[in-house]
Order: sequence, then C-alpha cells, then structure tokens
Amino acid sequence: MSIKNIRLEVMQFLEKNVDSFVEQYLIPVEKIWQPSDFLPNSEGENFFEEVKELREIAKELPYDFWVTLVGDTITEEALPTYESWLMDVEGIDQIENGGNGWSKWIRQWTGEENRHGDLLNKYLYLSGRVNMREIEMTTQHLINDGFDIGTGTDPYKNFVYTSFQELATYVSHNRVAQMAKKFGDNKLSKMCKMIAGDEMRHHHAYSEFVTRIFQVDPSEMMLAFQYMMKQKIVMPAHFLRESGQKISSAFEQFSDSAQRIGVYTANDYVDIMQKLITKWEIDKISNLTDEAEKARDYLMKLPGRMAKISERLVIPAEGHIFKWVEPARL
Ligand SMILES: [Fe+2]
Ligand SMILES: [Fe+2]
Repeated sequence: MSIKNIRLEVMQFLEKNVDSFVEQYLIPVEKIWQPSDFLPNSEGENFFEEVKELREIAKELPYDFWVTLVGDTITEEALPTYESWLMDVEGIDQIENGGNGWSKWIRQWTGEENRHGDLLNKYLYLSGRVNMREIEMTTQHLINDGFDIGTGTDPYKNFVYTSFQELATYVSHNRVAQMAKKFGDNKLSKMCKMIAGDEMRHHHAYSEFVTRIFQVDPSEMMLAFQYMMKQKIVMPAHFLRESGQKISSAFEQFSDSAQRIGVYTANDYVDIMQKLITKWEIDKISNLTDEAEKARDYLMKLPGRMAKISERLVIPAEGHIFKWVEPARL
C-alpha cells in the first residue's frame, strides 16, 4: 500500500472518534465565551464611559506592546486561510455528504478561533492607539497572498504544525495578558487570557491526534515530525506585509518587537519543540524503521542544538516604526 493510502486509512480510523474529540476538546456555542462578554456593552447606557476608561488605560501601554498585539490580531484574522488549507488535507472532506467527521472538527475549531480575531480587533478599534486602516490593509494582504506552511496535504505534517502553532499562540497571548496586567490593564489581560485558554485546549487536541498516529504508524509519524522540525515551523504571521509594500521584512520586525518585550522568543521556539518531544515520548517509541530511528536521534538532539543557536541571537534595541502604530499618538 502506498504511503498516501496508509495515511488515508489512519485518518479514517481516527475519524471514528471525531465526535468524542469535539466533545472533549471543544466547547458548545451556548457555553463558550463570546467577544461581547469582555467588551463595553454598546447597548448599555454606560457604553461611552466604559470606552473612555478603556482608552485611558490603553495610554499606559508601550510601542512594542501595540506592535505585538497588532501582529497577533492580524495572525488571528487570517483564519480563512487556515480553514481552507486544512480542508484540503488528505482525509478531510467538506463536500461529500455534507462533509466527513474531520470537516466537522475543522468547522467547529474555526468557529472557536474566529472569536479571537473578533475580540482583539474590536479592542484595538476602541483603544484609539492604532491605525485601523493600516491594520485592515495588512490583514487583507495576508489573506490575499495566502501562504505555504510547508505541510503539503499530509495530515501527519499538518497535525505537527497545528500542535506547535497552537502552543506558540498560547505562549504569546498568555504573555500579552501578563504584560497588560503589569500595566494595569486588567480587562485586556482577561481577554488575552481567555484566548490563550482556547489555544491550549486546541494544542491538547492536535497533539492528541499525533499521539494516536504514533500508536498506529510510528515510523511515518516520526519522519513527518522530523521533516517539520528540519524546515522549521513557519508562523502564519511570517507573510505579513504593510500597505504599499511588495516584499516585506514586517515579520522580522514584528518578531523583533515580540522578542524585545519577551512575548515570543527564540527560546520559546526551542521550549515548544522540547514539550512536543516530551509529550509524544519520542525516546520511548519502538518498532521504527532504520530511517525513522535516525529521525528520532535527530529530533532528540535538536532542542539542545537550537538552544545554542538562539543564545547567540542579537535583537536590535531600536525597533522599526510600523504604519499600524504611530508613535506620535502614544
Ligand atoms: Fe487563535
Ligand atoms: Fe489557535
């Protein structure tokens, strides 16, 4: 049987449990939080006072903080790209019979994720600290451009990507929450905490899918993990560009901002990799082909190697000025 057919079989095998995955890792619409729970109530009489208070507190937050928050928001807002990418993965079918079990998972995951961009976007709009039109143009560019996350349509590689990426967004939203709190913005802190909680739940789900694949197809799963770590996980925000730019270094600049304030650093990347290795008990997986054994050795040594490289990284002290956030207004 070809590798592709085996992957399809594995996906069909796991699909039998999709309902229980949805039940365990996702939350029904009526029970989950919504963006309005954390925003000034526009139907309420106190709306303008609440907005005024939100804007006053927002004045305390520094430049790199805003750049990071905008970058995080745009990353969330590119959700149409992620949904359409995942719907194309082998074993996931949204067309036949109204969609298979996996497409149900993707739809409900998307429904949860969609709240993240909504909430952050509305907060940024109300804060009065950022140039919304520039942010909107960057978002539209990111969606228009699309991006290649390097997984192809392979479910194994895609689940490694999502396991990693959900944990990375957890780290980043959680740090923003801590920082907002430090600056006295408890409401923004709460918003980011709620989002971070979702990301962690999603991470648990995707990494559970990988655990199960390791149980039935260990060698191929190991090779897929190695493949993704070798080429490095490219964050969706990697393809950011500001308005009027064709090719952009916006991601490097955004990522410098995030590193400077410690929201998401090269050490976090290594940390996440190590967490995945530990979670999937890579050292204990048996019944591997020679090639997969080599991949395992490579993976076990990789965090140590990458940690040495990340120690040498130097982040510029002075940041790029983005069109999204005008310093004069801060
Ligand atoms: Fe998200
Ligand atoms: Fe997410």
